[in-house]
Amino acid sequence: MAFFKKKAVHAEIDKAHLPQHIGIIMDGNGRWAKRRGLPRKAGHRVGAQTFEKIVDYCGNLGIHYLTFYAFSTENWKRPQDEVDALMALLEDYLDNGLKKLAGKKTRIHFIGNREAFSPEFQAKMKYVEEETAGGQELQVNVALNYGGREEIVHACRTLAQKVKEGALQPEDITEEMVSDTIYTAGQPEVDLIVRPSGEYRVSNFLLWQSAYAEFWYSDILWPDFSEKDMETAICDFQRRNRRFGGV
Ligand code: FPP
Repeated sequence: MAFFKKKAVHAEIDKAHLPQHIGIIMDGNGRWAKRRGLPRKAGHRVGAQTFEKIVDYCGNLGIHYLTFYAFSTENWKRPQDEVDALMALLEDYLDNGLKKLAGKKTRIHFIGNREAFSPEFQAKMKYVEEETAGGQELQVNVALNYGGREEIVHACRTLAQKVKEGALQPEDITEEMVSDTIYTAGQPEVDLIVRPSGEYRVSNFLLWQSAYAEFWYSDILWPDFSEKDMETAICDFQRRNRRFGGV
């Protein structure tokens, strides 16, 4: 019996060689709405439904780690009404949507700097994390007020503090130590980054974790992104020859 809502067809995928960790940039919501004469927030709303659909699909498939870029450290620069609409949507998900995943073997974790959010919002994030903590099959990271550079600076400060306290010598700092200090500590590196909407940028997403990630791009806008598109991305990934700097 499937633990997730839909049982999708993924005939071509080699389930023995799935990417362990997929990062997804949910891009194109604004353009999707504009093309329909709708406010940008309508695109984010449909984008949130796509998020649920792709979580279900990947959960059924057997993917263990997903990271979704929901709000970047730079997204505060958007018009206030759009930021407010996004925050309201995210809060609705904290209240109603994400906790539905509890008991479905899915664990939610938020990555990013939480200090920008109100104490109430932070408490809701913590509640969702606690409610879903038992999920063993799939970990979903939701990147909120997240920036790859901010994450690395945050890790540097944590390690520098240890040096200051005499608990660590600068020459003893290793890559593993940095990996264990960033927001995705304990999780595997990212194998595949998926970016729909025809943009070919990294946009400050998972800079440390994606050192050897494969990139997959598509012109499809995120609200239109389907299980079939995810299947195509994974099949393409499985045809890549990953050498990790070797030959
Ligand atoms: C980028 O598209 C999208 C965002 C900045 C927001 C993504 C957030 C959601 C889909 C909300 C729901 C998330 C969860 C986890 C429930 P854009 O607005 O930059 O699109 P554009 O490039 O067409 O303008």
